[in-house]
Amino acid sequence: MKRIALLLSALLLTAPSALATSVAQVKQKGVLVLGTDPTFQPFEFKGPDGTVQGFDIDIAREVARDLGVRLQVQSVGFGALMPQAVTSGRVDMAMSGITITPERAKVVAFSAPYYRSAQVFIVRGGNPKGFAWPASVKGRTIGVQADTTGQYAANDALKPKGATLKVYDDFAAGLADVRAGRIDALIGDAPTVTSLKQRLPGQFAQAGSPLVAEDYGMVFSKGSDLAAAANRTLARLKASGAYQRLLDKWIVQK
Ligand code: ARG
Repeated sequence: MKRIALLLSALLLTAPSALATSVAQVKQKGVLVLGTDPTFQPFEFKGPDGTVQGFDIDIAREVARDLGVRLQVQSVGFGALMPQAVTSGRVDMAMSGITITPERAKVVAFSAPYYRSAQVFIVRGGNPKGFAWPASVKGRTIGVQADTTGQYAANDALKPKGATLKVYDDFAAGLADVRAGRIDALIGDAPTVTSLKQRLPGQFAQAGSPLVAEDYGMVFSKGSDLAAAANRTLARLKASGAYQRLLDKWIVQK
């Protein structure tokens, strides 16, 4: 028993460095493994044919292209993706509309910011409950997705003002509760809410002012030279106009 425990702890101790991925290792494998939670249109979602597509996927494919390898997309739930899938080396990089925060930056490495976003409130079309931020929060029930910056911001800003938070693992379950009137509002990332309103006209609306502005980054294991490689790809895409074309292709402008 004791020996097994010792063996296990030895494995756990050596695992991170043994699995940490670098440019050289990715080139040797010939594949860049991207972890993503494909429930986040237009950044990553399953298309009609079941393949994962979106803005993030196209950017990751360009990173892979610059490294001379192919991209392999692995679906991982957001809670497992950030940060375990990255720190364990199960994936080489993560892109999933992931917000850069100082706390996360202690655990993983971020690329330069690649998209300016915000956390906003989504309500049923017509806002029948008259939710407003910051005017009307006390006594409200607000949905948040587990392990997201929306949840962190709600803990900091809404709870102290007397709101009750309802936590969802699955964003779609929160949307169902908004539609059914079981919660007053759900916190979500601005571009996904805009895309949702476009796909389901009239069913949902944005209410109140944004809760917090934020930036998305690509995520790597700490110390990996893949982050610098990704920044070079980002710079190339911006300089050539390809980045703007990808924005035009995927992101609904309000
Ligand atoms: N931007 C938020 C965060 O980093 C939410 C991201 C959720 N992404 C997803 N693919 N479900 O916490």
